[in-house]
Amino acid sequence: MKREQWGSRSGFILSAVGSAIGLGNIWRFPYMAYDNGGGAFLIPYFFALLTAGIPILILEFGIGHKMRGSAPLTFARLNKKWEWLGWWQLSISFVISIYYVVIIGWAFNYIWFSLSQSWGTHTIAFFTENFLGLTGSPFDFDGIRMPIVFTVLIVWSINFIVLYSGVKKGIELSNKIFMPILIIILLILMIRSITLPGAAQGLELLFKPDFSRIFDAGVWVAAYGQIFFSLSIAFGIMICYSSYLPEKSDIVNNAFITGFLNCGFSLLSGITVFGIIGFMMHQSGGELPAKLSGVFLAFATLPEAINQLPFMQTFVGILFFVSIVCAGMSSEISISETVVSGIMDKFNLSRKKVVTGYCLTAGLLSLIFTTGSGLLILDIVDHFINNFNIVFAGLIEVILLGWFFNLNSVKDHIHPISDFNVGAWWNFCIKILTPIVLGITAVQNFIGDIQTPYGDYSFASLAGLGWGVWISAIVLSLILSLIKWKIPITIKY
Ligand code: PHE
Repeated sequence: MKREQWGSRSGFILSAVGSAIGLGNIWRFPYMAYDNGGGAFLIPYFFALLTAGIPILILEFGIGHKMRGSAPLTFARLNKKWEWLGWWQLSISFVISIYYVVIIGWAFNYIWFSLSQSWGTHTIAFFTENFLGLTGSPFDFDGIRMPIVFTVLIVWSINFIVLYSGVKKGIELSNKIFMPILIIILLILMIRSITLPGAAQGLELLFKPDFSRIFDAGVWVAAYGQIFFSLSIAFGIMICYSSYLPEKSDIVNNAFITGFLNCGFSLLSGITVFGIIGFMMHQSGGELPAKLSGVFLAFATLPEAINQLPFMQTFVGILFFVSIVCAGMSSEISISETVVSGIMDKFNLSRKKVVTGYCLTAGLLSLIFTTGSGLLILDIVDHFINNFNIVFAGLIEVILLGWFFNLNSVKDHIHPISDFNVGAWWNFCIKILTPIVLGITAVQNFIGDIQTPYGDYSFASLAGLGWGVWISAIVLSLILSLIKWKIPITIKY
């Protein structure tokens, strides 16, 4: 089977940016910056972008393009013994794809609620009690919530149609729709936000630099973590997307554009979110809202801010939740495609068969997150995915490619097709700097979680949903890498 291809360079860039820009930019970055030294956080953040984000993007674009395969195929082609790493990254994507859809589903419900601000005045209680029907423990499911199942079904249907239609007619086209809508909405929301009374105070909170924090190792770890999650690196996504590039494609430039567009978007959402937070403080006489990040920022704090707007409440509400849908859908499509392409490659199956099987299986599994304990399960799974899977998979990737592989062969591949070359700094970042930072992060996370188990959850829930998912993902990846390929893995040029 001939490998599918993007129809245009802008189609590829929009899709890569679409994957990178997601919920992490909207509700994770602003809080990270605020909590880690405000304006001063931008120094470690941009340092992480230039020393890990963009170099790894160049690396992943380079190997995906050179080996023309999904993550498992690319790693198998680099070295047969590394195939399992591709499957591990793919299983991380699989797990995220199952819960990420549910959050997009909630946003669909909230577009509906925006029409009459039916979340009322107690927005936190509305979200947890009336909407999610949250139970007290992860194993106390208390049935599925039909309104959520309904919207999750909508999200899966869109995902199905896009993936089924293929790289050019599905993924590329959908990103050409989602991305411009998202940018326009964000600009409108930003203007609305910074013209609200009190906005300046919020921006001061976000940007006022606390330079003393620069000496805090934790701040650097947070910056690298944010860059990894935000740029969708170490999930196999960027490897998969670049495997659809035509032969002559500028790798280095594409990586810089993707990295900068993503971080620019994060800054704009930071301004928007903190402008609104400043407005809320202004309304309440200086009190900081209780929840400044994550699902509660989106589904409780912002609805509360919308209640207090002088006019255009419905309009702003709809725009905000549509932006979550656009940002989330384009990321969801990328993680799903990563899984689909890996299975298509390994078993030499048609796209249509794999997409159907994948959407049915993952769709059924995502029902778990529509139950009364959905948010609790999501919280645990997400914590372990971020702190262990992504960090460790990234660490192993840079160690294998930096130390047990000739990095310069990637350079030899990308230099003739790129506008400008990468220098020795690139080897240094991949071989030395990033492994050190990720190594410290990995050890820190590990010790942290052993010493203080995450949240108030029982041992059984953390063992089953956290450690259990982590270990099963690795075992499953090893097993998959032992199965014989249905296509030749040697590559012909
Ligand atoms: N990069 C996306 C974000 O910032 C998140 C994401 C994670 C996307 C995993 C795809 C896969 O939200």
